[in-house]
Amino acid sequence: MNSNLDYFNQLVRSRRSVFTKDFSGEKVDDAIIQQMLENANWAPTHKLTEPWRFIVFTGNGLRKLADFQSVCYKQVTQRNGTFDEKKFEGLKAKPLECSHVIAIGMKRDEKKSLPEWEEMGAVFCAVENLYLTATAYGIGCYLSTGGITNFEEAKEFFGLGKEDKLLGFLNVGMPKSLPVSGRRKPIEEKVKWVS
Ligand SMILES: Cc1cc2nc3c(=O)[nH]c(=O)nc-3n(C[C@H](O)[C@H](O)[C@H](O)COP(=O)(O)O)c2cc1C
Repeated sequence: MNSNLDYFNQLVRSRRSVFTKDFSGEKVDDAIIQQMLENANWAPTHKLTEPWRFIVFTGNGLRKLADFQSVCYKQVTQRNGTFDEKKFEGLKAKPLECSHVIAIGMKRDEKKSLPEWEEMGAVFCAVENLYLTATAYGIGCYLSTGGITNFEEAKEFFGLGKEDKLLGFLNVGMPKSLPVSGRRKPIEEKVKWVS
């Protein structure tokens, strides 16, 4: 088989989520983050709405993110009675364990020319491009969708309006070691061929 195809197959199958406990603390070169973003921009997009939006936090920006998300979490959850001290501490600490955190948003086009789920689908395609590019460069990352992701009150900080959505955070760092191999049930269990 063509070696490019071997490489591509291996790349996709070896992509793993690498969590902050497995980050070395070393900084990832901004130029690699730029390549990740450039590839994200080539995700498929119905009607070319290109709904993905990213805010990259690094350096002192990580502290700004940690402060904002922990305070926002506390305010909202103390109001609705779901406050959890452990989650609050995690939101305050986790960004500081990363080299970069990329906040992921979906910007709704003004005409709302597509259903929302299609636009979110396009953004997650862009996220896969971020993940795969990180894998190709030997960088670790994982997508987190907890914390303040679903909080209306959080949107403005990330430049998102009422119709837009905050979809999560890609936490990026240098991995301490090579990621372990993943697990998936066979594809045959999830496919039916009709011929
Ligand atoms: C839409 C989506 C949301 C996710 N949210 C979280 C999350 O909130 N926290 C987390 O630890 N991992 C999250 N993940 C990462 C998964 O835990 C990870 O993909 C899964 O364990 C499979 O491991 P792999 O990525 O190494 O194949 C998310 C992944 C996806 C696709």
